[in-house]
Amino acid sequence: MSEATKLYMEEAKRASYGHKLRQMQELALRDPENFWSDIARNLYWFKTWERVLEWNPPFARWFAGGLINASFNCLDVHVKTGNRNKVAIFWEGEPGDRRVLTYLDLWREVCKFSNVLKDLGVKKGDRVAIYMPMVPELPVAMLACARIGAIHSVVFSGFSSEALAVRIRDSGAKILITADGAYRRGRIVQLKKTADEALAKIPSIQNVVVLRRTGSDVEMKEGRDFWWDDLMRENSLNSQAVPLESEHPLYILYTSGTTGRPKGVVHDTGGYLVWLYVTMKWVFDIKPEDIYWCTADIGWVTGHSYVVYGPLLHGATSVMYEGAPDYPAPDRWWEIIERYSVSIFYTTPTAIRMHMRFGEDWARRHDLSSLRLLGTVGEPINPEAWRWYQKVIGGGRCPIVDTWWQTETGGIMISPAPGIELVPLKPGSATLPLPGVHAEVVDESGKPAKPYEKGYLVILGPWPGMLTTLWGDPESYKSIYWSKFGQNNLNFYFDPPAVYYTGDYAMKDDDGYIWLLGRADEVLKVAGHRIGTTEVESALVMHEAVAEAAVTGKPDPVRGETIVAFVTLKPGFNPSDSLRTELIRWVGKTVGPIASPSELYFVSKLPKTRSGKIMRRLLRAVVSNMPLGDMTTLEDETSIKEAMEAVDLLRKAMGMGELESQL
Ligand code: WTA
Repeated sequence: MSEATKLYMEEAKRASYGHKLRQMQELALRDPENFWSDIARNLYWFKTWERVLEWNPPFARWFAGGLINASFNCLDVHVKTGNRNKVAIFWEGEPGDRRVLTYLDLWREVCKFSNVLKDLGVKKGDRVAIYMPMVPELPVAMLACARIGAIHSVVFSGFSSEALAVRIRDSGAKILITADGAYRRGRIVQLKKTADEALAKIPSIQNVVVLRRTGSDVEMKEGRDFWWDDLMRENSLNSQAVPLESEHPLYILYTSGTTGRPKGVVHDTGGYLVWLYVTMKWVFDIKPEDIYWCTADIGWVTGHSYVVYGPLLHGATSVMYEGAPDYPAPDRWWEIIERYSVSIFYTTPTAIRMHMRFGEDWARRHDLSSLRLLGTVGEPINPEAWRWYQKVIGGGRCPIVDTWWQTETGGIMISPAPGIELVPLKPGSATLPLPGVHAEVVDESGKPAKPYEKGYLVILGPWPGMLTTLWGDPESYKSIYWSKFGQNNLNFYFDPPAVYYTGDYAMKDDDGYIWLLGRADEVLKVAGHRIGTTEVESALVMHEAVAEAAVTGKPDPVRGETIVAFVTLKPGFNPSDSLRTELIRWVGKTVGPIASPSELYFVSKLPKTRSGKIMRRLLRAVVSNMPLGDMTTLEDETSIKEAMEAVDLLRKAMGMGELESQL
């Protein structure tokens, strides 16, 4: 028995709760072969795997030798087994239009659309870019790709043309699926127009399929662009799901890191599906009679995993909503929960804080008694929001699962698991790692941190939902995620050992509960969305007036963080309010509205180290009114004084100092 096994057994004996959880944890880590085989057998495999795991750190092949298909597991198995008339999706558009799709309906659409893709020449391994609003055709497009082994790359529909172009170019997609437009807060967002701007810069796209959603006037390029409904009209239902190697990429999803360019996170098919299947069970305790609603946009990983693949694998009934949470009134969500008798509700802390601001009366107007389980994801939840969520939305009777995970982890990693055993909850803690997740908090040198000591969250060894590489860049995959820490005094279950770096700060308490303490790198979490400071900086320096830019985050009571930018101008350009507004808009146009800075300051120089690295840490302290800390590596102290004065001046002029003290 290894040291690590002994430790778990001892802990399990001592604890007054969590016995079952700890036992499963021990089993998962000690005997992964049997543990994961038992779970994987719940899915349909065209051919059973030969080995649960082939591990050449940091490259893993989960269920090596197995053949599987995601679309088959999400649809065909239910259509064949009597769930064909069960509702898969209750969909509601922002303007109020509604659609109900059964598993049979969804299966038919997917079969037909997979034939559309084939007709357009899409083959196994080809990449298909998807840039669509939250309509049922978005999961249809994804599942159709999965059906024939094409790799989808969904780009969030709130991204602008430049961000879309960068992602399509990197993936080398040859088809783009989009819509004429999307509804957002009562307005129409012109998706096709944005896509056209992007396409001007990408020669790899051969065809564009356009869904009619808003009826907007769009330009269709002869021979390249086709309407979705025209292509679907003639198509047959005859489409066999292709048996794919377990490690065949299901999708690429771009996410922000510390470099200016987004990283293409690749997920395989078999390991990813097993992880989603089991986390839906453990965390959401999903049952056939549940009405499940995850409010995430499918453009982000939460939508991929817990709007599309997770619930469909279970044959669950989901709600999908297209628009803004407060449109036309702040009770839109609560009305939807009442209408469909939602029992499991999964959303973000930012959304909860926004609803807190609107006041509890909006929720009180509706009967929310169908709810039995609540969840949050994407950012730390402050205890005040946690309690409000539990009391006002959950009526005091629903547990809250605070789920920690990342685009890279594929699915939930640290969270209460009522599907196994509900441990006592502590508002603000994601509680314990799920079985099979060996999470640790380590100090700078990679040694385990003491209880209550802030350190870096790491995961030891592989897990089934893990990313398998970065698209076209295995070297960065290795260096970004698997090279920061060595094997200092850590207990490993997997041999050879490897340490995955999450980029998050965390601490453990006396009970081994994990508390997430925010990002340890230059990644911001704005309203739960992941945005790299360097991406915003690259956008700013693309503007003709900007010489240099430094971007940091500032704590925000609703959105978690907001973006603050400092810029120096090129000779011939002068600071002005109109230039400030123009630069803020520029970022919105270049990256997307979610990346727009909420504050922007002009300075003559940026704080840098002697070797020329921008000290964003100091700027973060300045904008948050925090102590500056160690300044010994700063080359020129006047730079930070200037930044402080700039912040002071503008905030006074706008009365923001006063505003902040009220929050
Ligand atoms: C943060 C979202 C605290 C964290 C699924 C992580 C959280 C990043 C939580 C990943 C949580 C996610 N508590 N922080 N429950 N969940 N995070 O890739 O910083 O968009 O590294 O995936 O979100 O963001 P991503």
